[in-house]
Amino acid sequence: MGIRIYPPITNASGPLSVTYEELERIARSATGAIVTKSMTHCPRQGNPEPRLWAHLDGKIGSLNSMGLPNLGYQEYAKLIPKLKEFGKPVIASIASAPCAHNLPPVEQYREIAGAIEKAGADALELNLSCPNLEDVPISMDPQSVRAVLSAVTRDVKIPIGVKLSPYNNVPKLFEEIARTLLDFEIAYVATINSEPLTLDIDLKTRAKVIRPNDGFGGLGGPAVLPIALAEVHRFYRFFQKHRAQIAVWGVGGIIRAEDAIKHFLAGASVVQIGTLFLWEGPQAFERLWAGIQQWLTENGFSSVEELIGQVRDA
Ligand SMILES: Cc1cc2nc3c(=O)[nH]c(=O)nc-3n(C[C@H](O)[C@H](O)[C@H](O)COP(=O)(O)O)c2cc1C
Repeated sequence: MGIRIYPPITNASGPLSVTYEELERIARSATGAIVTKSMTHCPRQGNPEPRLWAHLDGKIGSLNSMGLPNLGYQEYAKLIPKLKEFGKPVIASIASAPCAHNLPPVEQYREIAGAIEKAGADALELNLSCPNLEDVPISMDPQSVRAVLSAVTRDVKIPIGVKLSPYNNVPKLFEEIARTLLDFEIAYVATINSEPLTLDIDLKTRAKVIRPNDGFGGLGGPAVLPIALAEVHRFYRFFQKHRAQIAVWGVGGIIRAEDAIKHFLAGASVVQIGTLFLWEGPQAFERLWAGIQQWLTENGFSSVEELIGQVRDA
């Protein structure tokens, strides 16, 4: 089951999408959908600060170890009907995390998914790939991916997206995960989550730029664009080859319209914006969409659909 997003550009889950005020700001922008922060079973404070470094310094991007600060799914269930009044699809991102109720991750996803569907969300984005929790992300283990998808797809009828980690140079794992996805009715894969295990240093203070996890965090922004393009492209190729009706949504490194065009050419049908939204705020969506349309006109295309997956071999 698919979900139509127009314009084909949304915020990426996380940056400035935690509170109702932040989500309302997204709803009022030119975004094609409203994507919530990944919500967990219990509310979370997240990791100690400083936990986000997001300066244009060096044009690298953002480095974070937020630790999923969010209001908890029961609060989001109350907010969703209000967000729906803006007339755009509301996509609820869901994650598992250690919690006072001690529910296993699969049960957390199942319970949250059921409640959020009931609250009226238009789609769920299962964040299986948070790089900043203690456990290895579910996205790195095909059995766990299968367990979560079996539990959620059994009960839930609204479209389901799956947010994945970059698989970088582990093609065997990429292939196992991609094959696992074929067994389920999934609307889209969103790739990539932050590139894990990255470090940066502020030369003025000679300190690591963030505190949690010994300074290691997930990277977003311009530095990850080629990584994201590669993940988008290999999922797109894989799904084409296996005639799967799973769309690929491109996330990672988009700060200019040209970056989004590259994602479309690589196979993305929707793009999501994380770090740029932190830097520029909601007008980023309007600027990017205008730039994309201008590029299409100047290059003789009439719609984004004509570009999807059309990258040529060198
Ligand atoms: C501050 C911050 C918080 C994030 N929180 C989440 C989250 O809750 N859920 C999620 O799926 N991704 C989260 N991400 C990852 C982004 O959604 C996105 O995948 C990543 O930043 C790459 O996109 P970008 O290059 O446009 O930033 C977060 C990223 C940042 C910078």
